[in-house]
Amino acid sequence: MTILPDATLPARQAATPKPAAAAPAAQGSTTDHLQLVVVGHVDHGKSTLIGRLLFDTHSVPDGKKERIEAASKAEGMEFEYAFLLDALLEEQAQNITMDTTRVPFHTERRSFTIIDAPGHKEFLKNMITGAASADAAVLLVDALEGLREQTRRHCFLLSLLGLRQIVVAVNKMDLVDYRPEVFEAIRKELGEFLGKLGVEPAHFIPISAKHGEGLLKGSARMPWYHGPTLLEVLERFRANPPASGGPLRLSVQDVYRFDARRIIAGLVESGSVSVGDEIEFVPGGKRSRVKSIETWPQSDPAPRGPVGSGSEVAVTLEDELFVERGQIGSPVSDRPYEARTFTARVFWIHDSPLRSGELIPLKLGTQQAEARVLGIQRTLDAVTLETGTGTTGEVKVHEVAEIRLRVRKPIAFDVGGKVPALGRFVLMRGRRIGGGGVIDSVVDEPPENRGASPVSRSAILGHRGCIIWMTGLSGSGKSTLAQALEQRLLSSGILSAILDGDVLRTGLSRNLGFTPDDRSENLRRATELAIHLSDAGVVVIAALISPFRVDRAMAAERAKERGVPFAEIYVNASLAECERRDPKQLYKKARAGQIQQFTGIDSPYEQPLAPDLELRTDRESVNDSIERLTQLALGLARPVEQAGAGADI
Ligand code: ADX
Repeated sequence: MTILPDATLPARQAATPKPAAAAPAAQGSTTDHLQLVVVGHVDHGKSTLIGRLLFDTHSVPDGKKERIEAASKAEGMEFEYAFLLDALLEEQAQNITMDTTRVPFHTERRSFTIIDAPGHKEFLKNMITGAASADAAVLLVDALEGLREQTRRHCFLLSLLGLRQIVVAVNKMDLVDYRPEVFEAIRKELGEFLGKLGVEPAHFIPISAKHGEGLLKGSARMPWYHGPTLLEVLERFRANPPASGGPLRLSVQDVYRFDARRIIAGLVESGSVSVGDEIEFVPGGKRSRVKSIETWPQSDPAPRGPVGSGSEVAVTLEDELFVERGQIGSPVSDRPYEARTFTARVFWIHDSPLRSGELIPLKLGTQQAEARVLGIQRTLDAVTLETGTGTTGEVKVHEVAEIRLRVRKPIAFDVGGKVPALGRFVLMRGRRIGGGGVIDSVVDEPPENRGASPVSRSAILGHRGCIIWMTGLSGSGKSTLAQALEQRLLSSGILSAILDGDVLRTGLSRNLGFTPDDRSENLRRATELAIHLSDAGVVVIAALISPFRVDRAMAAERAKERGVPFAEIYVNASLAECERRDPKQLYKKARAGQIQQFTGIDSPYEQPLAPDLELRTDRESVNDSIERLTQLALGLARPVEQAGAGADI
């Protein structure tokens, strides 16, 4: 079934899914319906334009205008077309408390919905939340007043949101005696401003909404204008242009249990879905095929799709997957990104600035996550288009900025306008919207093996597992350094664990001695354990004498085979120094013949030939060694950011 675009899905508590209506599974049911926003300064005649469009296209009930005219007259007021809109909205809004109103109208050629917001603030909010996910925009400018700050901000938003179908209506031409110079001057100034933003309007049209000039028919008052009328342009715009042909993006809204079935309900943001399609749910990477498309009541025969973009849909899968709200169903061959760190442009509308370093709730479609503002690269005044450096570390109200964000858990998104709904997010300031943005690029490396658990674990942890293998004589300082490193990593938010020879030998390797074979087996066990742990995302610090090159080479080889990053650290102190330290008094015992095959005494230690790092613990300070070791470990655990950079979230 296609649940009709306007149908509301049942609440989660509902015992049975009751999508409102069943409709034939039409593809692109919205293709010929145009969603329109009218943007511009509040006084530039928006309501009049909308009222007039409704009236002239016969989209208001018969007699309505006359009744309002009479009522206006009774109050001693001149009738205005804006009243017509107000009256319609009042009727519509009786039991709705929303920031957005939707006004339908139609011509012989197509139907339209004008998405409207009562005030400037609400308008900004609508635009950035995507509530006004419009196909096209009418940018309205008052011929007498020309460009205003709000006009410029709105232009900026249009460019930020990637709305490409724009028509500029220069309104109130009657107030400037329909003079072409006024129109031309505005066309030039606005054209230049929009050009800087990379926006090219389809047309500039001189109109008078109040007198109905230039809307439906060419205006006799402006014979110098030879272009199309406003409605002609609107009728030519494409509906739903970016999403219809794109890859499937099924935004999961809810999952219901019904009989033994698990029904996944969501919105097709782009592409289409049919029975038999293989779908991967991102983040997470679980896959299955669509078993059925559910309708309520059940229809016979059951629909098989495709269900196209803009429609809500309820499906069951062939496999019992744990799918949840916020995940995005997508084709296996064309998934959205799954990542934590990205760059974005944000438009800030809250009075308290967005600050670098702050933690702020982010919403992207049905996904929610806490985001850390890692940095503010550049700020831009949306009116003057003048850039600041962003070094003040904040984005003030009505500023636009390029920022870098890291969310606590990976989210699914698209970039570069591929699927606009999945590249747009809002940032919450308390319960209000602080600002909105679009994602420009991914900073995380796209994981190669996306289906495997290590990928999602490392995404959750914000780092990957790896093995720091420390080799050296007994007493060279391995354990001391290992403990210090572990502390440093843990306090940087990196999960780490030590595998210490002395500890292993009391458990896992307690049946082993110190013959070369036993050492080899000891190190084999340690290696396998280290790989398991690092697969699970842990930074493993192995502190083992591991005196034979062949054993260390085996460890490195195994790690490589399993795709685990590995570094060999040579903790180097001279035998004399180790013997002088003799913390466990073992050298003494070995010299006295109480211990056999003691490394350095009667068993060899083979120095690493090309360690990744050598720490001369008999020459450099402990702090220096720890510092160098930590830098290496951070670089291995977090390859994307340079070691030490960026506060962890
Ligand atoms: S390894 O060479 O097999 O890797 P491992 O690091 O696990 O050695 O264990 C070394 C620890 O075992 C030393 O720190 C020491 O406390 C203890 N030990 C006991 N006997 C010996 C020995 N003969 N040689 C080396 N270390 C020994």
